[in-house]
Amino acid sequence: MKIMEIEGNRELHGTIRISGAKNATVALIPAAILTDEEVTICNVPEITDTDALCDILNELNVDVKRASESIIINPQNMKNVEIAERYSKKLRASYYFMGALLGKYKKAVMYFPGGCSIGARPIDLHLKGFEALGATVTNKKNKYIVEAEELHGANIYLDIASVGATINIMLAAVKAKGTTIIDNAAKEPEIVNVATFLNNMGAKISGAGTSTIKIEGVEVLHKCFHEVIPDRIEAGTYIIIGALCGKNLKIDNIIPEHIDSLLSKLEEIGVDLEIGKDYVLVSKGENYKPTNIKTLVYPGFPTDLQQPFSVLLTQCNGKSKVTETIWENRFMHVPYLKDLGADITVKNQTATIIGPTELTASSVVATDLRAGAAMVAAGLLATGKTVITNVEHILRGYESIIEKLTNVGAKIDIKEI
Ligand code: EPZ
Repeated sequence: MKIMEIEGNRELHGTIRISGAKNATVALIPAAILTDEEVTICNVPEITDTDALCDILNELNVDVKRASESIIINPQNMKNVEIAERYSKKLRASYYFMGALLGKYKKAVMYFPGGCSIGARPIDLHLKGFEALGATVTNKKNKYIVEAEELHGANIYLDIASVGATINIMLAAVKAKGTTIIDNAAKEPEIVNVATFLNNMGAKISGAGTSTIKIEGVEVLHKCFHEVIPDRIEAGTYIIIGALCGKNLKIDNIIPEHIDSLLSKLEEIGVDLEIGKDYVLVSKGENYKPTNIKTLVYPGFPTDLQQPFSVLLTQCNGKSKVTETIWENRFMHVPYLKDLGADITVKNQTATIIGPTELTASSVVATDLRAGAAMVAAGLLATGKTVITNVEHILRGYESIIEKLTNVGAKIDIKEI
């Protein structure tokens, strides 16, 4: 088991360079198997979720080469074998192999995906989308067999604008006969990045980034070179950390428009920000005002930044509220923030935070990826040595977190115990 130790209450200054987006990468890697040719993806983050998907590619006999931030995927000798549960349960995004294998071979056999325990996380919308395209789905215990004689275009309305269902349906529909329309599609930047990748391979997808996506099926996809967009959630996490303990902390290599909802909330509470073309310069301010946030689908306030943002709200003067509308179980960080000294009560899906409160180091748990990011942010602010357990969750999504924070003056270490 790995633990993180943080000596908090230090000023952070310098530059943090943001890596490629986890939630784009985890879809791009499965999408790459839709061709038989070699695909190069660059700006790939070195995180354990990337490793887990490469393990699945190896199982499928796909040739994978990794070299500093790039990954070269060659599916020429690929075999469509069942993806064992030990692989699928390592991460949620293993489910993108369902859409990709169905799109390529008209058959996918795999187990229910894993990932953070932040809610029930059903995949019914993915499966309904596959069925609309002509597939049948058989589910025995945790195992899913999705197969079709032929995939055909369809009009699909998503009851919820689901990121995963939107991408998975795109992957399955890209080589189907005819035209597919996804209505009430999710609009996250990662979806645009995946659609661009598929179009670079010869797909005909339009409307990605709006709520109606049109996919005209093509017969063949070919090799391409593609770049992963910067990780807006990693960027947002470090900007929040800068608002807690930064002095001219530069968060570089970002697309500021992707985090508009966060930046406007930060400006509202009084954080000192300079927003450049591809960077944000952030310093800790005085007398932050309280505010309310409600998580929403893009371009609303991202659920994935709700937990780190809650740490900042403990430093605001007065009562703030955080309402979580996407996941049923995303307040698991709260008991640990309370252990550090925060004043938070949770009722139904709303947390009420009263600040400012001083945070003092304690032993805490990273219950999930972004709860872990919240613990890091809190530990950097708290006086004394904070010890975080279950840090494997954090390493799933934050590339070189120790190095990035150490380089800007944090005292943070990771140990195997
Ligand atoms: C993606 O999860 C991200 N994960 C999540 O990031 C992120 O929190 C989420 O989108 C929302 O932005 C990846 O991209 C790998 P959804 P996803 O389908 O696709 C319900 C992180 O910390 N739903 O948009 O699984 C679902 O229960 C992770 O990086 C159904 O009911 O999310 C949820 O309430 C955590 N049926 C809502 O829709 C379905 O078939 C949105 O989920 C699918 C989803």
